[in-house]
Amino acid sequence: MSHEELIARLPKVELHVHLEGTLEPEMAFEFARRNGIALPQSSAEEMRAAYRFTDLQSFLDIYYEACSVLRTEQDFYDLTRAYLERAVADNVRHVEPFFDPQTHMVRGVAYHDMVSGIRRALDEARERDGISSKLIMCVLRDLSDDEAMATLRTALLDAVPIDGIGLDSTEVGNPPSKFIAVFDFAGAAGLHRVAHAGEEGPASYIRDSIDLLGAERVDHGVRCGEDPGLVGRLIRDKTCLTVCPFSNVALKVVASLEDHPLREMLDVGLAVTVNSDDPAYFGGYIGDNYRAVAEALGLTEDHLAELAFNAIVGSFADDERKTELLAELKKATE
Ligand code: ADE
Ligand code: ZN
Repeated sequence: MSHEELIARLPKVELHVHLEGTLEPEMAFEFARRNGIALPQSSAEEMRAAYRFTDLQSFLDIYYEACSVLRTEQDFYDLTRAYLERAVADNVRHVEPFFDPQTHMVRGVAYHDMVSGIRRALDEARERDGISSKLIMCVLRDLSDDEAMATLRTALLDAVPIDGIGLDSTEVGNPPSKFIAVFDFAGAAGLHRVAHAGEEGPASYIRDSIDLLGAERVDHGVRCGEDPGLVGRLIRDKTCLTVCPFSNVALKVVASLEDHPLREMLDVGLAVTVNSDDPAYFGGYIGDNYRAVAEALGLTEDHLAELAFNAIVGSFADDERKTELLAELKKATE
């Protein structure tokens, strides 16, 4: 079986995708038109041409600006549905997307509208496409812990439930320790906990996300190699790392795909997964990421199956669903 064929067949689980990061320029223009909002660019081509980043912040500035077109329940439904259609094409079987409510609430969007639109699309996909899901709300680490706590309270009081809390946005200077109370509260309320760490920030942020915030998975985590003791611990504990190769190249976390540590990380036994992060901005969806790393790093069939396995095991799907997905993986690799 060719790598291409194997990748197409693998039952994929996506654990690190920001729904706002799936906003393709054409969709942004459509939402802008129907909501009567002006965008700084005059066409989708011009918007795409502006996607040249020097670091995480240079990306976030553009990403938050584009988010201004998202206003209604229908916008969030359409955004999520469009992502799920891409996911079906990539044989994604389970997904745990992020959304950033604070980005939209400052513009007057009601929390309930966004979470309802997203949930409606996710529930429909379960019925229509057989894709299961868990929904993770991220709080923005460059805003205050009080604002994060207020957002969490809003989420917990809403009729539409979420399954987990995450931590994203500007990493350096906003350490995990800032959000201990928020994550304690989320854990007590029964939410799963994840955090972006070790993308631009130091390896100590990975350690602290686990120790101080109770993070069950680490989003990115690619800088863990700077602390060999931490690597040993992540291997022992089988801590899932949601690695995003295209994102790491686009935001200059690594110099090129060929220089990406993913293969070494797999070979030392880290529970690495492959994800798209913000596919509309970084050049491709999960299948594109799999194909590109397989080629650039010369991954074997075993590596590819291991990536899919790690994502199933590292997901928050219940045991019955994990068993189904593992059976699909076995079949795909026979
Ligand atoms: N928000 C969207 N994508 C992100 C990333 N890669 N890191 C931090 N925050 C983000
Ligand atoms: Zn991310």
